[in-house]
Amino acid sequence: MAPAPYLVFDGIAKYFGDLEVVAPTFDLTVRRNEFVVFLGPSGSGKTTLMRMVGGLETPSTGEIRLDGQPIREPDRDRGMVFQSYSSFPWLTVAENVAYGMKYRLDMTPERKATRLAHYLQLVGLSDFADAYPNKVSGGMRQRIAIARTLAAGSDVLLMDEPFGALDAQRREDLQIELRRIQQQDAKTIIFVTHDVDEAVFLADRIIVFSKRPARMLEEVDIAAALGPDRTLELRDSERFFRLRTEVLKFVRAAAGHDN
Ligand SMILES: Nc1ncnc2c1ncn2[C@@H]1O[C@H](COP(=O)(O)OP(=O)(O)OP(=O)(O)O)[C@@H](O)[C@H]1O
Ligand SMILES: [Mg+2]
Repeated sequence: MAPAPYLVFDGIAKYFGDLEVVAPTFDLTVRRNEFVVFLGPSGSGKTTLMRMVGGLETPSTGEIRLDGQPIREPDRDRGMVFQSYSSFPWLTVAENVAYGMKYRLDMTPERKATRLAHYLQLVGLSDFADAYPNKVSGGMRQRIAIARTLAAGSDVLLMDEPFGALDAQRREDLQIELRRIQQQDAKTIIFVTHDVDEAVFLADRIIVFSKRPARMLEEVDIAAALGPDRTLELRDSERFFRLRTEVLKFVRAAAGHDN
C-alpha cells in the first residue's frame, strides 16, 4: 500500500513578471516523516519552492497542500531555517532560541528550559547563551537559527542550506543529529544543499533540479539504497561512495543541461 501523501506540490509554476522560475509545472508528493533533499544549480528556483511551502510566496499556478490543506500563509507547523539566517539582535542567544517555543502552550516552563539547554548544547552555544547575536560569528548566528527552529518542534522543517557557514566538524555533528531527530521525532524535512555528500547522507530521497526554470530531472531513492540509519561507518563505506558518485553525475548533468 502506498503511504498517504502528506506534503503535495500539485502542478506548481512560478513566475516573477516575465521570469520563469518554476515551469512548466512541478509535482512532488512527500510522505509523512520523509527526508527530501533538493539539489540543483544556483538560481534554479529551490529557495523559491521552499518559500512557497513556507507560505511566504504564492504559486502562479497550482497548489501546495499539507495534510490535505492548501498552504496560504506561514504557520508554526512549518519551521524554517533560511540561507540568510536571521536572529533578533535585541535578544540574547538564549532568548533567540527560546523564542521558537514562545507560543508552545503545550510545553511547561520546565520543559522549555530543558529543551533550551539541550538545543544550545547541541549547536555548541551554551557558553554564549547571554551574548548578543551581533557579538558572535556568522556560523554561530546560523546555529542560533537552527537551534531556534529545532526547539520550536514543528512537524515540518524547511531547511535552505542551513549548514553552509559551519566548519566541517560541526556540520558533520549536526547532520548526524538532524537525521537522528528526524527519525526519533518523526519530522518531515525538506532540505536544500549544494553538497552531494551531505545530500546522500541525510536524504531518504534526492530531487535533482534542472537549471532555471526548475524542473525535476532526477529522483534518487536513497532510503532504498542505504536504509534509515546513517552512521559515520556508512559514510566511509563503498556503498555510500558509489551512490554519491551516481548522484554527482546527475548534478553535473543538471548543470550542463539545457531546458
Ligand atoms: N521576489 C523575487 N522577484 C524576482 N525574482 C526573484 C524573486 N525571488 C527569486 N527570484 C529569482 O528567481 C530565480 C530563482 O531563485 P532562487 O533563489 O529560488 O534559486 P535557488 O535555486 O535557491 O538558487 P541558490 O542555489 O543560489 O540558492 C533567480 O533568478 C532569482 O533572481
Ligand atoms: Mg537558494
